[in-house]
Amino acid sequence: MRDISGTTTLVTGAGRGFGRAVATALAQAGTQVVGVGRDRARLDQLRAELGGGFTPVAADAADPVVAGQLIDAYRPRTLVLAAGTSPLGRPLPQHTWETFSRPWEVDVRQVFHWAREALLAPLDPGSVVIAFSSGAAVKGSPLSGGYAGAKATIRFIASYAAQESQRGGLGIRFVSVLPQLTPATDLGAAAVAGYAARQGVGVDEYVAAQGPVLTPEQVAKAVTGLATDPAYEGDAYLVTAARGLIDAGGAG
Ligand SMILES: NC(=O)c1ccc[n+]([C@@H]2O[C@H](COP(=O)([O-])OP(=O)(O)OC[C@H]3O[C@@H](n4cnc5c(N)ncnc54)[C@H](OP(=O)(O)O)[C@@H]3O)[C@@H](O)[C@H]2O)c1
Repeated sequence: MRDISGTTTLVTGAGRGFGRAVATALAQAGTQVVGVGRDRARLDQLRAELGGGFTPVAADAADPVVAGQLIDAYRPRTLVLAAGTSPLGRPLPQHTWETFSRPWEVDVRQVFHWAREALLAPLDPGSVVIAFSSGAAVKGSPLSGGYAGAKATIRFIASYAAQESQRGGLGIRFVSVLPQLTPATDLGAAAVAGYAARQGVGVDEYVAAQGPVLTPEQVAKAVTGLATDPAYEGDAYLVTAARGLIDAGGAG
């Protein structure tokens, strides 16, 4: 296992959901965590919990200037891109182009800018960039507008960046994670409520039919594993409650 204690981690979307759990786990692993989110109060709350090992940065993770400034300032050994917009949960005809494309304007834009900055810097050999795609990239997500396509593109961007790292001999690892849908975060709870309503069942019944519920702590454990265990050599991993990390295969 790679020892990451004493190194710097940067996590976007650190204020809540998966990003918060990842920031907590990587702080507990002894890394200095820089947490990015738009809600300053939530980040300050996490700082109060984690102490001096956590540096809050209130900023828009999809802003290219933010990506450039924070990569230059912190040069993270582990970069986790967990920020993501909550898509408008409506079927296709009820979307406008603006609502449909929001996950592209936030999630894809973010991963594009940060992956590019990581390659340009370049981050040190041995650095790891972990981008949040979604199981929806494989299964689709008919109530989320452009979300599934955006998440598939994030998987491609991580794979393309990995190829550029390899071609340039940079030694930076890029990997995407594809968590299964879970009601355990704000984003996931809204999606699950939408799909349950569409099927005409209650949320509890819908969730029970999906099998074991993925928790943010399991996602954080998976991300920590990807950052520390050299056995994970793949480009993309499904993250599941029942079977943990599953190699999703090359994305191109
Ligand atoms: N939950 C699921 O079922 C599921 C499944 C597969 C993939 N995912 C993906 O996992 C990631 C985390 O989702 P989650 O479920 O943890 O969602 P969540 O609980 O809604 O949290 C989203 C996080 O992203 C941050 N964020 C959103 N826009 C931002 C921006 N422009 N700049 C900086 N931070 C921003 C939010 O913080 P602020 O509001 O403070 O900015 C929040 O911390 C997302 O990429 C999501 O698509 C989730």
